Amino acid sequence: MNNIILIGFMGSGKSTVGLRLSYKLELTMIDVDKQIEKEQNATISQIFTNYGEEYFRDLESSYLEKIRNNQTRQIISVGGGLPLRKENRALLKEMGQVIYLKASPFTIYSRLEHDTQRPLLQGEQPLEKISSMMLKREPIYEEAATRIIETDGKTFDEIINEIVVGIY
Ligand code: S3P
Repeated sequence: MNNIILIGFMGSGKSTVGLRLSYKLELTMIDVDKQIEKEQNATISQIFTNYGEEYFRDLESSYLEKIRNNQTRQIISVGGGLPLRKENRALLKEMGQVIYLKASPFTIYSRLEHDTQRPLLQGEQPLEKISSMMLKREPIYEEAATRIIETDGKTFDEIINEIVVGIY
């Protein structure tokens, strides 16, 4: 399969980059989080509050299974935690090019400072939370990726152009 899959930490720009890429390349886009919210008729925060994180992770894995054999090439943007499961990482690689949008904790923090939609980042000391989660997740994202795009200090146009140049 030859999909273009975007991974990265919360707030790394996956949804925006995905949408813009889909216009530029004239491909449809799947935003896995949005699809899960639609299917469950609940927000991610509600799913976390009512059923817990593991339940949400199971929903992510089953959604991935559901789209793994889609026959048209698509842009797929996945939630920041989806690559944490090894089987999901393996599946993503089978499904296409996996592009890791890399951003520093401070960049993420400045983008998500006022966000209320990400249950894992609510509460005290968000920058510290982001930094420690990033430390654990960085090697996982790197393992999952077939390409890494540094996004710090770049405009969306620059990021898109960089991605498009390397698309096969
Ligand atoms: C999560 C990332 C979120 C969403 C959920 C958990 C994570 O998606 O799936 O809040 O564990 O990194 P985004 O990466 O689109 O914010």
